[in-house]
Amino acid sequence: MIQFEPETNRALFERALEFGKRQVKRLIETHPGFYPIYTQEGRWKHEGPAWTHWCDGFLPGMMWIFRKRCGDDAGEEKYWLDQAIRYTTPLEPRKNDRDVHDLGFIFLSTYFRWYRLTKDPALNEVIVQAGRTLALRFKEKGFYLRSFVAENSLFIDIMMNVGIIFYAARETGDRKLRDIALRHCLTTRRVLVRGDGSTAHEGLFDLETGEFLRQGTHQGFRGDSCWSRGLAWSLYGFSTSYEYSRDPRFLETAESCADYYITHSNADGVPPWDYNAPAESRKLIDTSAAAIAASGLLRLSRLLHDPVKGHFYWSAATHILRTLCEYHLGEGDPGYEGILKGGVYHVHKDLGVDESVMWGEYFFMEALDHVLG
Ligand code: GLY
Repeated sequence: MIQFEPETNRALFERALEFGKRQVKRLIETHPGFYPIYTQEGRWKHEGPAWTHWCDGFLPGMMWIFRKRCGDDAGEEKYWLDQAIRYTTPLEPRKNDRDVHDLGFIFLSTYFRWYRLTKDPALNEVIVQAGRTLALRFKEKGFYLRSFVAENSLFIDIMMNVGIIFYAARETGDRKLRDIALRHCLTTRRVLVRGDGSTAHEGLFDLETGEFLRQGTHQGFRGDSCWSRGLAWSLYGFSTSYEYSRDPRFLETAESCADYYITHSNADGVPPWDYNAPAESRKLIDTSAAAIAASGLLRLSRLLHDPVKGHFYWSAATHILRTLCEYHLGEGDPGYEGILKGGVYHVHKDLGVDESVMWGEYFFMEALDHVLG
């Protein structure tokens, strides 16, 4: 159970954000044009496999955040704007990518931020097209967006991507798109979120009948366990889906996942990589899940009608962020290239275990940006 003090520490958060800027600058100046996923022994450039191609939005996503946080320094603002555009533009063809379920990750972190700044309709068109492409993954039997691994597979991670379909539906008035997004969220809620607010990573369906068969996992400990990053994706994703749809069932689900996170994570706010792994294995934490949860809790706290609960979630988020800033920064280790230490990508494949991971960096910076206002 998280034990927290309801106070923030502005100087600590600002320092971490400045450290983030320095590490990203170092990465792009050392390896221009490179979009890494995870570090090996603290270094971004290595030959380790990607498993799936889903992270390219996170590095430019941080650049859009940094552009916004330059104060009066016009030179620095121009630097980050130029870099953000340089790293965002090559992603455009991915708007038609039918091989991944990650188009929300790729475009909401980049083109969405760019469009909000400029209001250029051509940028919006890219986001809408990405939403339409993602919607093509919808299975009419079973009512879910299929994961990248197989037709019969639904992942909890897709909750972070379905927002781009809601967005495309809103921008175009296309009711079919909205219906797909709503049905996907309802199916995920029914088959992957358990009564206690914990989540399964994967749901498997009968392709002939659309019947849900069982829960499974790729990155968690077991099919019936709760992989902490999946829980964080769910917390954040259902908050976003509520924001777009105003369907109270999604708010209830987001709260239930948030309560599970707060009740079952370590007292410092960081979770084990899987809540149901054996005790020895649970010593391995995942700071990337903590960063996602912090950012999701900040969003959720603003959506609640009950100000007391909103304050509770906001305080939980600042407590997590304080822990990340105080104990998990790559600072003080000159050879370390990441921002946030202690992330986990894929335990079973031994990819990025106890390393920096690009989504951990991004959601950490997003949460700091949000809390600093
Ligand atoms: N594939 C998404 C994740 O590793 O969380």
